[in-house]
Amino acid sequence: MVRSTPTFTAERLAALQKSYNEAGQDHVFKFFGDLDDEEAAVLFEQLDGIQVERCNEFFDRTVRNPAAVEGGDKIAPLESGSFASTLDGSSSADDIAAWNDEGMRLIRANKVAVILLAGGQGTRLGSSEPKGCYDIGLPSGKCLFEIQAERIRRLQQIAAADDGAAATIPWLVMTSGPTSAATQKKFADSNYFGLNADDVFFFNQGVLPCFDLDGKFMLEQPGRLAVAPDGNGGIYEALRLSGALDWLHERGVEHIHSYCVDNCLVRVADPTFIGYAALRGAECGALVVPKKAWNEPVGVICLRNERYSVVEYSEITEETAKQKRADTEQLAYNAGNICNHYYTLDFLRTRVPDIEAKLEHHIAKKKIKHVDLDSGSVTVPAKPNGIKLERFVFDVFPYVERMAILEVHRQDQFSPLKNAPGSGVDCPETSRSDLIAQCIRFAEAAGATLESLPEGREPSFEISALVSYAGEGLECLNGKTLAADQLINCLDDVVTV
Ligand code: UD1
Repeated sequence: MVRSTPTFTAERLAALQKSYNEAGQDHVFKFFGDLDDEEAAVLFEQLDGIQVERCNEFFDRTVRNPAAVEGGDKIAPLESGSFASTLDGSSSADDIAAWNDEGMRLIRANKVAVILLAGGQGTRLGSSEPKGCYDIGLPSGKCLFEIQAERIRRLQQIAAADDGAAATIPWLVMTSGPTSAATQKKFADSNYFGLNADDVFFFNQGVLPCFDLDGKFMLEQPGRLAVAPDGNGGIYEALRLSGALDWLHERGVEHIHSYCVDNCLVRVADPTFIGYAALRGAECGALVVPKKAWNEPVGVICLRNERYSVVEYSEITEETAKQKRADTEQLAYNAGNICNHYYTLDFLRTRVPDIEAKLEHHIAKKKIKHVDLDSGSVTVPAKPNGIKLERFVFDVFPYVERMAILEVHRQDQFSPLKNAPGSGVDCPETSRSDLIAQCIRFAEAAGATLESLPEGREPSFEISALVSYAGEGLECLNGKTLAADQLINCLDDVVTV
């Protein structure tokens, strides 16, 4: 017997079943008749929200008839001279200052916004909270969201200082099903970390069904389809569908910096990067750092069939990753992608919608908890049994007409938090010590000295981003010997020894 509930009728259910049947995915209704009204309504809603034929098409294109990946494409390293660098005097101090000035001018004119990619689940870190809530153990106890918010606040202050008019950097936060509610709660409970709530825009990326190895949708429970976020490349569709692009347009924004949630050194709304890309007339851009080692888990920006592209660390072959530049010890594929991107709003509004349809998915084979269709019981597999399809944020690069790539110092802008505490690499401890080391460098560059500590004792020294965004404004520290354990929230309260 077919039941009707307040949310769907027998006709709508029949139509939905027919579309799943025609797509060869009607097994997802196997337990429908056993569900109570509420469960049935939930499953109906979920299945009704999936474009079943489109998902099948993604699977066919990606898994059954994959486009050439690294092995089939012509991959080449970036040509030297095709990107600028702030390393080792590669660019003049005047050039870098000019880029920074242009970025600040655009911020002052309210033409810059930032997008935070915060839809990832942080599985490797082993935390069930959104990564942005993570406390990396700084003296201030600030979580990653708060550090980023304070950088925005500080830049707004610097930009406004000249003529007294307020400068606003809107902050767009992309979340996913698993991170949305907890992220929004954290912002609300923290009073938006001192930012104006009207300048923060949350939007959710989409989900795709999890497939078994034959392309069949999987059920997580008898009344629920197994789904997963569609990868950080879901940003483009999500920006469009959520109204975020219109919101930015109405505010007069023209330049956008997007970045990963898990990088405690990220220069949010980085004026130098934005100014560099804007002065080049680029429609898209990316920051890179030299790779630490051939097997560092970062993507590399390179040329693929003569177009800019990223070969992800999960897709590069060992042979390619190990190649050296002729007559040097330097890796040929050395432009480590740190997931800091620049876009013009015009590019996102007018060009990306056409590009989106051409973006391929990437395959992630995963262990997916699912319902066994024969027994009806939930099974936790011991080895990968299914496929999640994801788009990657950088997959628009090959379609970009004018790209701006800027190489920067790792120690200034990149310390990713990927792994669990105690793992020793890209973990909370390395994030903490990289941020503290940067604060010490800021103080030393201003002419201060840090008190020396007994061997083996680490300093616990932090300068709030509200005091200094990138080392500016610390002149009053000149000549002082600073206590190694302190949090500087205000330059009047600095502890000296
Ligand atoms: C990413 C980059 C990699 C780069 C590295 C630097 C991609 C696809 N890969 O790899 O090239 O070298 O960062 O740290 O960008 N996210 C979402 N939705 C999702 C999945 C992820 O918003 O569905 C967000 C995460 O919250 C995070 C960012 O995207 O802010 C990167 O995701 P993560 O899984 O950490 O990427 P990596 O594999 O480390």
